Amino acid sequence: MQNPSEISPASGRLGVLLAGLGAVTTTFMAGVFAIRKGLAAPTGSLTQMGTVRLGKRTDGRSPVIKDFVPLASLDDMVFGGWDIFNDNCYEAARNAEVLNPDLLERVRPELEAITPWPAVFDQHYVKKLDGPNVKTGATKRDLADQVIEDIRRFKSEQNVDRLVLIWCGSTEIFMEESEVHSSLELFEKGLDDSDPSIPSSMIYAYAAIKEGIPYANAAPNLSADVPALEQLAQETGSPLAGKDLKTGQTLMKTMIAPGLKARLLGVEGWYSTNILGNRDGEVLDDPESFKTKEESKKSVLDHILQPELYPTLYSDLHHVVRINYYPPRGDNKEGWDNIDLVGWLDYPMQLKINFLCRDSILAAPIVLDVALFLDLAQRAGMKGIQEWLSFYFKSPIHSRDLYPEHDLFIQLMKLKNTLRHLRGEELITHLGLEYYD
Ligand SMILES: NC(=O)c1ccc[n+]([C@@H]2O[C@H](COP(=O)([O-])OP(=O)(O)OC[C@H]3O[C@@H](n4cnc5c(N)ncnc54)[C@H](O)[C@@H]3O)[C@@H](O)[C@H]2O)c1
Repeated sequence: MQNPSEISPASGRLGVLLAGLGAVTTTFMAGVFAIRKGLAAPTGSLTQMGTVRLGKRTDGRSPVIKDFVPLASLDDMVFGGWDIFNDNCYEAARNAEVLNPDLLERVRPELEAITPWPAVFDQHYVKKLDGPNVKTGATKRDLADQVIEDIRRFKSEQNVDRLVLIWCGSTEIFMEESEVHSSLELFEKGLDDSDPSIPSSMIYAYAAIKEGIPYANAAPNLSADVPALEQLAQETGSPLAGKDLKTGQTLMKTMIAPGLKARLLGVEGWYSTNILGNRDGEVLDDPESFKTKEESKKSVLDHILQPELYPTLYSDLHHVVRINYYPPRGDNKEGWDNIDLVGWLDYPMQLKINFLCRDSILAAPIVLDVALFLDLAQRAGMKGIQEWLSFYFKSPIHSRDLYPEHDLFIQLMKLKNTLRHLRGEELITHLGLEYYD
């Protein structure tokens, strides 16, 4: 047994702030309200349903995670957020057409009570979107200050003890790190000068981190994944997580690819295509937003298959990712993968995956877990990049000296070992020699 970390208790209310009150956000909130009322189970949520084995396999100790580490209770969560549309969360959930109207009626009062605050928005960064509920300000610094005012007002009106902020807004155009992102000083000057390299999501991220609030990015855009904001997080004690929730096709990819590599099966080609018809799909129909998503989806295979270590098996891999906007499908995405494999003596094989998933149904429990774990991290004194939360993301943020870990099973082991470490329990290595002594 090591020394457990000091973790302050999860007493009082946890405010969960969401930038973007669309399909993912409203499915997450409606789910929390429904679970609180006993109308549904928290399926898909590791914090609510997962267990963690402690000690030896013969010890029989596998507590539920929420009993093992002090997490905020769902009953203590309160919600607020921003959107460019004026719809309250009930109307937004109806428009998103993810959950059936019967269920939404049963949580209607709770959802209706959440109305969006005016958003920081600039169409330059999301071409396919425009809406009326938008802040005006002389500079980007002024807009960040307005977000901070919203946060403080919510905190005092709702009598909230702690907060987390998650970007669940639309995917912004592809941007690369530039000089203004390289240090906090240059970034803050950039806010004063309204530098075009600072998109809306970064303004929310700055506001949250400046306030010392944990911040996560559910989308693939850069947002807090720049040195300036990492530096600020170190100064203010904000834990950070992101980017791009690992749902749908990429979730499957990070389950299947480690298996193929484990058995040293070659992969010549991996062709992935999707149809989806929700607003996210419409935004991704713009090539500039799609490029951000494509980069996020494509990096996964290289890091899992490691062609530099296995050139014979993976160096000629053709990896193609397509997303097609197809309105009749709404949020019910359909993905097809064709994988061209190579086995013993170069004999070819094929694997076909047809995943009929529901995007926001897969995303909602991740938002819940990330909110609860970020709050835990902060109470345990952890700040900056939380690599142990890579489990939840397609493009996990990581130290600049490392490559990211994409293998879902390594990510899960890392997450559970982090929880064991926090509680002073032995880490599990799976060596297991002691059972045969
Ligand atoms: N659904 C999934 O499984 C999944 C998986 C990974 C990532 N994501 C990402 O999560 C994000 C949300 O997905 P969604 O399906 O809820 O999309 P959505 O289009 O239903 O919701 C996004 C909401 O963000 C709002 N918005 C856009 N810019 C904003 C701004 N600057 N400030 C405040 N609000 C803003 C939009 O008006 C919209 O209501 C997207 O970027 C998506 O790519 C979703």
